[in-house]
Amino acid sequence: MAGDATDRPGEARAAQQRLDALLQEDRVFAPAPGFARRANAADPAVYERAERDPDGFWAEQAAALRWMQPYAQVRSGEIPHVQWFPGGRLNVADNCVDRHCDGPRRNKAAVIWVAESGETRTLTYHRLRRDVCRCANVLRSLGVRRGDRVAIYMGMVPETVVAMLACTRIGAAHTVVFGGFSAEALRERMIDAECKVLVTQDGAYRRGNVVPLLQNAAEAVRGTPGVSKVLVYRRVGAPALQADLPAGMAVDWAQAMREAAAECPCEPMESEDLLYILYTSGTTGKPKGIVHTTAGYLLGVATTHRLIFDLKEEDVYWCAADIGWVTGHSYIVYGPLCNGATTLLYEGTPDFPGRDRHWRIIEEFGVNIYYTAPTTIRTFMRWGTEHPKSADLSSLRVLGSVGEPINPEAWMWYHENIGSGRCPVVDTWWQTETGMIMISPLPGLVPTKPGSATRPFPGVAAAVLDEAGNPVGPGAGGNLVLTRPWPAMLRTIFRDDERFVRQYWSRYPGKYLTGDGARVDADGYFWLLGRVDDVMNVSGHRLSTYEIESALVDHSGVAEAAVIGRNDALKGQAVAAFVTLKERGAAEGGAALKAELQAHVARKIGPIAKPDDIFFTAELPKTRSGKIMRRLLRDIAEGRALGDTTTLADPSVVARLKEQYEEGE
Ligand code: WT7
Repeated sequence: MAGDATDRPGEARAAQQRLDALLQEDRVFAPAPGFARRANAADPAVYERAERDPDGFWAEQAAALRWMQPYAQVRSGEIPHVQWFPGGRLNVADNCVDRHCDGPRRNKAAVIWVAESGETRTLTYHRLRRDVCRCANVLRSLGVRRGDRVAIYMGMVPETVVAMLACTRIGAAHTVVFGGFSAEALRERMIDAECKVLVTQDGAYRRGNVVPLLQNAAEAVRGTPGVSKVLVYRRVGAPALQADLPAGMAVDWAQAMREAAAECPCEPMESEDLLYILYTSGTTGKPKGIVHTTAGYLLGVATTHRLIFDLKEEDVYWCAADIGWVTGHSYIVYGPLCNGATTLLYEGTPDFPGRDRHWRIIEEFGVNIYYTAPTTIRTFMRWGTEHPKSADLSSLRVLGSVGEPINPEAWMWYHENIGSGRCPVVDTWWQTETGMIMISPLPGLVPTKPGSATRPFPGVAAAVLDEAGNPVGPGAGGNLVLTRPWPAMLRTIFRDDERFVRQYWSRYPGKYLTGDGARVDADGYFWLLGRVDDVMNVSGHRLSTYEIESALVDHSGVAEAAVIGRNDALKGQAVAAFVTLKERGAAEGGAALKAELQAHVARKIGPIAKPDDIFFTAELPKTRSGKIMRRLLRDIAEGRALGDTTTLADPSVVARLKEQYEEGE
């Protein structure tokens, strides 16, 4: 237990000094011998072997999947249009559920669900299979056929997992839309993906409040003619479904499931059939529908999950992300279930009802592997060590981090206070587009350095290039690229292949541009430096500056807006908006208008996109060709000396802005 209030400052100072010393040592953590001996990846030759014959490595791993028809080739096609395992047939639900029901995992917990209220529910593989079959039959009865798209707009409940797997069972693709997105954002995605059916829930619990998912869904559906049915899971017990939706559209989940048959064969899918579309922010205002296909994706997420998290048969694994993001798709649902793991699903936030919630869950369920984001770790740091110290965390064996670069302080805090110095920390770098983890230590093989994602996964090839396309030397910064196709790679952007080619594959021909900056040190370790494009990372949520700018200028009072991500100690980045007003001087933009604009952005995109700062200005700094210089706005928002201003049309604009901003603070 933490000491009383009087000795805490001393304790904190001592901890700080210890940390400083560790960081200065350029600390390296070698895998503990006991851990290394038992690790799933224990042979260091795996790297060299995979490097010599990457396709051979993936073929070896592919033997762990259940195929309905063997594949003809590991890989075919030319970059960027690559096919993995052509000729093969398999089904994702068969691999994630049915396969495990044929053996000793039949009665194993597939999903342990912890509700925010404290209620818990466990779905064994057998039980999960029956629910998935029923739901698949329900979707069929609503007209969903192989190749169709289904939107899923739900919270963190087992039914979300069931709905995803039900789609894959019948060969329909899902597009999961994060429950924090607005009706408009949902509508935009359903229209782009041409969804036929929407699965949603009446409301989701969050910190004891109800997020009105059905109300948003109903609003979204009203402008989406393609959606003919809405399947509604009643989580909070809303009395009337019809009231919110047009007549005949709503179907009650519980009733439909009760009436549906508990058997449904798995559709034999081609390796390259569409598995899902997931929308993510890019460098324009329009979200990109990232396309993932069947065999390569499943293989990529299952292999990385087994080796990076060192999954053991008896483990309880918990990824604390939301299913609405790719982390939830790959590492709550598909990777873990394909590996026959027990995946824990928690409905609520880390501070409800108390700030020890995660540690209580770890203690209660004996969680062995815990995977979260740096922003959450920094929040825990701020809350103090008394919370983790009050729980028994001795079941933990591996700790993971994802979503943004983890600062060494947060890494050390995580390692010491959550892992008691004995659990390897795997910092996993990847993206919605990569589908699977690409850069990360294998915990039994790779010594870790706090703040570095270490090295590419076996078979994965990455490099850091300068503007001319030459690899930068040790320590120098550049653009992170992936130089070889990988099985879970995105196949295209839905209905926009041209954008796919241009965005990712044209900057350095034949190489995939990640949009991230990175350095490689003398040991070949990768240090991620954040985005180099106009994509922001706010609390691990990916947002585009243009998307928020479009939402702002959509407001009748706004003439122009420039949005940047400024560094923030807790969130990684915070959203700062510089706004010019129509017909009104900047001086008239007061607190009321600021609140109105924040609400407007929340309505257009979702509460996650709300600007933290809104700064009203008479003019924005632009180049002579009219391009807004966001770099200078970033300098201003972060209180730095201004960078090069010589390309500005009117350098006095930015000087005035800086003065005004500093006064306003
Ligand atoms: C961007 C991708 C991958 C799942 C969550 C986010 C940043 C992610 C790390 C990490 C440094 C990271 C990158 C990347 N990012 N993980 N371990 N170290 N940066 O998925 O929304 O597609 O965002 O998140 O900037 O490009 P996403």
